[in-house]
Amino acid sequence: MCAKTASPQGLKWFQDIRFGMFIHWGLYSLIAHGEWVMHTEKISVSEYEKLAPQFNPVKFNADEWVSIAADAGQKYMIITSRHHDGFSMYDTALSDYKITNTPFKRDPLAELADACARRHDVKLGLYNSLLDWHHPAYRFRAESGLAWTDYVAFLHGQVRELCSDFGEISAVWFDGDWPAQLLSDDNRHFLPGGSFEYEKLYEMIHTLQPDAVVVNNRHAEPIVGEDIQGFEQDLPGQNTAGFNAEKIFDLPLETCMTINDHWGVAADDDNHKSTRHLIHTLVRGAAAGSNYLLNVGPTALGQILPAHSLRLREMGGWLRLYGESVYGTRAGAMAATGDIVSTRADSVHYVHILNYNSDVVAIKDAPADIQHATLLRDGSDVKMTRKEDTLLLTVPYFQRDPIDTVIRLTV
Ligand code: GLC
Repeated sequence: MCAKTASPQGLKWFQDIRFGMFIHWGLYSLIAHGEWVMHTEKISVSEYEKLAPQFNPVKFNADEWVSIAADAGQKYMIITSRHHDGFSMYDTALSDYKITNTPFKRDPLAELADACARRHDVKLGLYNSLLDWHHPAYRFRAESGLAWTDYVAFLHGQVRELCSDFGEISAVWFDGDWPAQLLSDDNRHFLPGGSFEYEKLYEMIHTLQPDAVVVNNRHAEPIVGEDIQGFEQDLPGQNTAGFNAEKIFDLPLETCMTINDHWGVAADDDNHKSTRHLIHTLVRGAAAGSNYLLNVGPTALGQILPAHSLRLREMGGWLRLYGESVYGTRAGAMAATGDIVSTRADSVHYVHILNYNSDVVAIKDAPADIQHATLLRDGSDVKMTRKEDTLLLTVPYFQRDPIDTVIRLTV
């Protein structure tokens, strides 16, 4: 039987978990100028290949990475199995250009899969690039005499490996198929030589891994087989990055973002967002019905930056207190404002007051059947009155939380 979409339980699980870890890690981590360095610094294939014999991330510890995610309250991790540079971070049978042929020799994806399987609280998902700056059948067909179909066979073959060799996976995450008009002139030679045969590709994933969701970061309307609408560096409906669809489709949503300004590690990027800002983004995303896939770019030695693990652990601390208002919720029934957003779980509504402007908080369009307001932190009553269709909550400063004051509204 061929399956066209992820199973209902896979889709529900994905929507319930709300928070995941994105990991960009590859040969580019050695240069520490981000994952596009091969392109941005115009490094030839033969020069870039010289990184492979230098790659030896002896500090890599799968249990440690998974425990950072678990401590953060992240329920899934998506790691780059092969990024645009074409280097495979697992023991693929389809290429020699892979991590098991470096001095490191080990397969970190297999080790992460084992670590996830042992713990049960974080599920593994795998990123695979559609674009490949190294593969002769993607980029050098004229020189190599290879055909586009050779690349498609490689891509589908790798995805089959990802769906067969790592136990149960939660997602396959594609990237690198963008509308030509978004690419600059010197990007054009990276354009695909034909169709990626998505229908076949997605059916294979949904058949081999029935609960796994397919995400394709195409910056366009999802097609059949793509289970999730994705947003990059923007919450649903926003488009500050310039490439997100502003229309929101009736699908589970996911927003991926960096903690600083790079996906792959960048030595001089210290623009790490505050924990407060990251929690606000998580909550604003949940209020819009979206998961938050928050990126780390480990070093070439295999370590997640302390500046990132610290923030992640702080987020986890917050989630241990307030997770009820995030996990398992759906988009809020009340319109989001700059200061207040809401999430809901059936008839329970959670108001998140993100900025403290006044003791009285006015909420328009609150459902008419709400009877009680309590502080999620300790269950204490919150004064509630109604003025026409506006709900007025009085929240004095001693009931406030410096990050997010969460109020539980029940019928
Ligand atoms: C962009 C970047 C890519 C990165 C991805 C993550 O598409 O090109 O390098 O992996 O965003 O969402």
